Amino acid sequence: MRKKININELKTGMYIDELCGSWMDHPFWKATFKLEDPNDLVSLHHSSIKEVWIDTVKGLDVGPQVPHLVEEDTGSNTYQSLEHAATVAPKIQLGVSLEQELARAEQIRNEGRHAIMSMFAEVRMGKALPMDEMVGLVDKINDSVMRNHSALLSLVKLKNKDDYTYLHSVAVCALMIALGKQLGVEENQLKLLGMAGLLHDVGKIAMPEDILNKPGRLTDDEFELIKTHPVRGWEILKESPSMNALVQDVCLHHHERVDGTGYPDQLSGPALTLAARMGGICDVYDAITSDRCYKAGWPPAEAIRKMAEWQNGHFDATIFQAFVRTIGIYPVGTLLKLKSGRLAVVTDQSEKSLLKPVVKVFFSTRSNTRIKMELVDLSHAQDTIENIEHADKWGLDVKKITGVV
Ligand SMILES: [Fe+2]
Ligand SMILES: [Fe+2]
Repeated sequence: MRKKININELKTGMYIDELCGSWMDHPFWKATFKLEDPNDLVSLHHSSIKEVWIDTVKGLDVGPQVPHLVEEDTGSNTYQSLEHAATVAPKIQLGVSLEQELARAEQIRNEGRHAIMSMFAEVRMGKALPMDEMVGLVDKINDSVMRNHSALLSLVKLKNKDDYTYLHSVAVCALMIALGKQLGVEENQLKLLGMAGLLHDVGKIAMPEDILNKPGRLTDDEFELIKTHPVRGWEILKESPSMNALVQDVCLHHHERVDGTGYPDQLSGPALTLAARMGGICDVYDAITSDRCYKAGWPPAEAIRKMAEWQNGHFDATIFQAFVRTIGIYPVGTLLKLKSGRLAVVTDQSEKSLLKPVVKVFFSTRSNTRIKMELVDLSHAQDTIENIEHADKWGLDVKKITGVV
């Protein structure tokens, strides 16, 4: 059984199933492990982690004196409160359908990956940031997001360890623009937000690649070094003539948190700008939904749920609600099992409820066969969502079958 316990109750012999908090802000890159080394316990006490989930089947349990949250208590409640909060904002009107945008978005994704890769290489050799090229790229990403933001966002999810940093930049650019649009930001500012997303991790140029791509856990020293990338990036951006202050701000402050526990400046409250708060949300969402060399990405719907659970302290609640409204509680591309036993992939959000998206059904888990594909708007259907599924479990190439990534 999974139990949520306070960090002070943790002892060696327990099996950590999940560290509550952003996994990017502590030195434990493994999400689950048996706590055997007392030094690990000390490191955890020194980290920003306040609570952990333990698995009492795989390791020691806590005493019975204090009641603890068990697995069954989470999940649906989070989704319900998210739904309530997120419906305050209007749904973004899309220019074209997902199918219509996917091919163009794929081209922009590939162009973007190539452009960021070359930019990193040039700056690493001491050349200036190729800003004309970056401006052109932001324009294209902005146009695609305006037509249908789900197309590019679902495509940039797919990364491998070699192109993670490049596609992460494209993804955060697209997310910043989509979120800015949801928040009612005007077009010129939207492009600035996009540029900030595109360049937010430029400081990784100055990080040793073997540490950036290290498959295992980072040492404390390595983690401290990685934490310097916002400042290193800001130094690079300052060199570029007339670099906008907003872009510099997001680069320097995308790892800050609203409660002041982030880095490098521990900013909180009004000191943290809207753009920096947006950057923090977009950055974490893309990082945790991407496959990395040390862990598989979470399905987007799961990432949204986790972020909702972390949001007190980590993220600005109002901006997070707008973010959820932008990409949905079940973002496009989420694989779902319906109560009818059918597998379906999310293709759009419905006007009525973020908990009832539009899906494409394509497989019956009861007969274990493909079925005729059809679009079902769950807000008007009898069928409901049973749970989120992993495509690997069913051995299905969802993209090939449905055309939806
Ligand atoms: Fe970063
Ligand atoms: Fe990032």
